Formats: sequence, structure tokens, C-alpha cells
Amino acid sequence: MGRLRDKIVLVTGAAGAIGSATADAVVEAGGIAITTDLGGSAGMDHALDVTSQEDWLRVIAEIERSAGRLDGLVNAAGIAAAGSVEDTDLATWRRVMAVNLDGTFLGCKHALPLLKRGGGAIVNLSSVSGLVGGHNLAAYNASKGGVRLLTKSVALHGARFDPKVRCNSVHPAFIEGAMADALIAQTKDPAHARERMSRDIPLGRFGKASEVADLCVYLLSDESAFVTGAEFVLDGGLTAR
Ligand SMILES: NC(=O)c1ccc[n+]([C@@H]2O[C@H](COP(=O)([O-])OP(=O)(O)OC[C@H]3O[C@@H](n4cnc5c(N)ncnc54)[C@H](O)[C@@H]3O)[C@@H](O)[C@H]2O)c1
Repeated sequence: MGRLRDKIVLVTGAAGAIGSATADAVVEAGGIAITTDLGGSAGMDHALDVTSQEDWLRVIAEIERSAGRLDGLVNAAGIAAAGSVEDTDLATWRRVMAVNLDGTFLGCKHALPLLKRGGGAIVNLSSVSGLVGGHNLAAYNASKGGVRLLTKSVALHGARFDPKVRCNSVHPAFIEGAMADALIAQTKDPAHARERMSRDIPLGRFGKASEVADLCVYLLSDESAFVTGAEFVLDGGLTAR
């Protein structure tokens, strides 16, 4: 308790598995979560399409008016699309890049003026797919690899301010929830695919959104004050071999 006492944290994709678990964990740690997702998502504080610069400017202006500061940002909104480089059409490529990479860029860019005021921390959801390739994840791999290096550039920029703004990336493997379910549903034999994917993970299971959320709390908290530009892999050992 109290690890994020009174810290105000904006979470994108907060109707999803990892975003909602992170918002809950922020509150449990004594912070204030500002939840955002696409319009129409129930229970959110703001509608925010991360690909829309206007939406970012509007939501940040509202936070500035109501709170006057921001202490943390978790860029959790994201989409996955299966497809090799040959199978992926340009519209799908652009959509995945727009949500996963443009959305993270716009979030970092427009939250920084508020984060700089009192110092803060950004957590960007990349993926193991931002570290290693998959034959059928061309657009997703490219977008998450982009998030990994964008994070380092933002970290180096944020390190020049006083107070500091830190920025780190998180790289989960399969996490229980809608995104993994949707990818598995696209395979020829979903039951077999889920079993094989679990077997591929040395720890023998999918991850939980709450486990990603716990890592986000650490990265948002002052416990990680010397941690920036780093990559945190949460994959049950998948990329260890
Ligand atoms: N689930 C996994 O296995 C897994 C693994 C590695 C990385 N990740 C990454 O973690 C993040 C969260 O994944 P999740 O499992 O919670 O997925 P999810 O599908 O449960 O949630 C994603 C959320 O993003 C929202 N979203 C989609 N497009 C948006 C847009 N344009 N603007 C705002 N919100 C938008 C959706 O409405 C949804 O609520 C994503 O970036 C994902 O790529 C997930």
C-alpha cells in the first residue's frame, strides 16, 4: 500500500485485460488512475482513441484543468493482427502501426509537458514480439520493435529534465485475455494451438494481466527511480533459450 500514494496515472486501453488490471493495481497502490479507451467502452473516465492527436490534446488539457499535473502514463492500448509479410495488406499494416506505434508516440509526446512539471514515469507496452520475430506477425513485430526503441529515445530525452521523466518498456508473452484468445481463434486448431503455446513457455502457462500490472506499478513508483530506457521481459522464460 502507498507505493503510488497520490500519483495520478493515465492508462490507455484501460478497458482491456492489461490496462484494466493496471488501473486497478494503481488504485490499490494508493494512486489515482485516469482510465481511457475507445469511445463506447464502459466505465472509462475519458474516450481516447490513441491514434487521434485531437483526442490526446483534449484529454491532457482536461487533466491539466482538473489536476494540474500528471505523474504517470501507461500506454497499454494495442491491437494484434496475424499475417506474414506476404499475407499482410497495407491497410492492416497501417492500422497496426497507427494504434501500437503512432498511439504510443502521441501519448509520450503529449503527456510529457505535464509529466515534466513534477517528474514522472512512462510505461510502454511492447511485447516479446518487439524482441524476437514470428513468421506470421509482420506488422505486430514491426510496431512493437518500434515501441522498444521509441522508449529508449523518450528515456534519454526525459533524463535531461529536472525533475526527471523516466520511460521503460514491458515485454510480455501470451497473457490470458481477449488478445491471446483472438490470435488463437485464427489458428486451424485453437485447442491444440493454446496447448502448444503453453508448452512452449518454460514455466508452462500463459501470464496473467495482474502480473504485468504489478510490474507497471514498480516502474511507475519511486522504487524504480534509477531505472529508465530499460526493457522488462515477462515471458515465463520464452525468450531465454
Ligand atoms: N495479451 C497479450 O498476450 C499481450 C502480450 C504482449 C503484449 N501485449 C500488449 O499489451 C497491451 C494490452 O494488451 P491486452 O492484452 O490488454 O489487450 P486487450 O485486447 O485486452 O486490450 C486492448 C485495449 O486497447 C483498446 N484499443 C484498441 N485500439 C485502440 C485505440 N485506437 N485507442 C484506444 N484504445 C484502443 C481496446 O479497446 C482494448 O480495450 C497491448 O499493447 C498489447 O499489444 C499483450
